[in-house]
Amino acid sequence: MLNIKIEKTKDPKVLPGTDNPLKFGTIFTDHMFIMNYESGKGWYDPRVIPYQPLNLEPSAMVFHYGQEMFEGLKAYKTDEGRTLLFRPEKNIERANKTNRRICIPEIEEEDFLQAIKTIVKVDDAWIPTKEGTSLYIRPFIIATDPFLGVRPSDRYLFIIILSPVGAYYPEGLNPVKIWIEDEYVRAVKGGIGEAKTGANYVASMKSQVKAHEEGYSQVLWLDGIERRYIEEVGAMNIFFKINGKVVTPELNGSILPGVTRDSVLCLCREWGIPTEERKISIDEIYEASQSGTLEEVWGTGTAAVISPVGQLRWEQNIMQVQDGGIGPVSQKLYDTITGIQLGRIKEEHNWTVEV
Ligand code: COI
Repeated sequence: MLNIKIEKTKDPKVLPGTDNPLKFGTIFTDHMFIMNYESGKGWYDPRVIPYQPLNLEPSAMVFHYGQEMFEGLKAYKTDEGRTLLFRPEKNIERANKTNRRICIPEIEEEDFLQAIKTIVKVDDAWIPTKEGTSLYIRPFIIATDPFLGVRPSDRYLFIIILSPVGAYYPEGLNPVKIWIEDEYVRAVKGGIGEAKTGANYVASMKSQVKAHEEGYSQVLWLDGIERRYIEEVGAMNIFFKINGKVVTPELNGSILPGVTRDSVLCLCREWGIPTEERKISIDEIYEASQSGTLEEVWGTGTAAVISPVGQLRWEQNIMQVQDGGIGPVSQKLYDTITGIQLGRIKEEHNWTVEV
């Protein structure tokens, strides 16, 4: 159990009004959680302090070799005013998996959860209540040793910041257009594709810029070796409904094991929809789109929740997903998951944790 000191701001910001669209990741709350690590000493000095810039040496290792990890989860306000987290233990478990992969010291699971609950409680007034909004929680760890040699750092900072958010995509729940990348790759098996670390995201940026220029919201990655099998979207995992079956790429080491992905698989199976995790080739998707059996496509992610996909572009081929609207399974998944997150739907999985 952490002994967390709390220093409240003397200069609280004005809370965003209910007419503020809460553009994703642009507004930050009054406080942040921070804790230090030093080899031989472990994690120490957990505290909540006013949200503020960091004071780091330019030689801090994170700036040079990218030793950093992050997570993303959300807090929701229920109609009765309770605060709920959605499956935080999954994010915490994944955070330590990422830590092991990139040589960052692990954080005790109970301490991690305590840190999240504490900072969310301090900034509870910032949890937005309008439909489709939530408080995005961004825990991250950075390597801070002032050193230019390549090795794991001996010092780290673990920080949690909070951001009230609306929809991740400006499209909201309207279907997005996705560009299938055939030139660059995001990750290969044995690399760091399944870890939640910034390097995976910087690897995606060049393609994302290209996709945006062509009018597409996001990039869908193919496997790094054969450039044939579907992997993920970068900010989301991807699902297809083909001829009555829900399919998603199996976790193969280069795909992020998404918490929403896992929840969607669980719900689809409970609803009796045939569901498969397996290799999916781009040719299979193309053929399904040509034969009319590509019934729905959606992305899943904490930030995006369920994001219907209306169009995919692969090389010169434009694949239109049905009439470009929101499919019934995508809609039902969105309603059910957000209903659970907001405590409106009772469920037996114990997916919500009260703060
Ligand atoms: C999330 O869904 O929480 C993510 O981490 C995706 C992010 C890149 C916005």
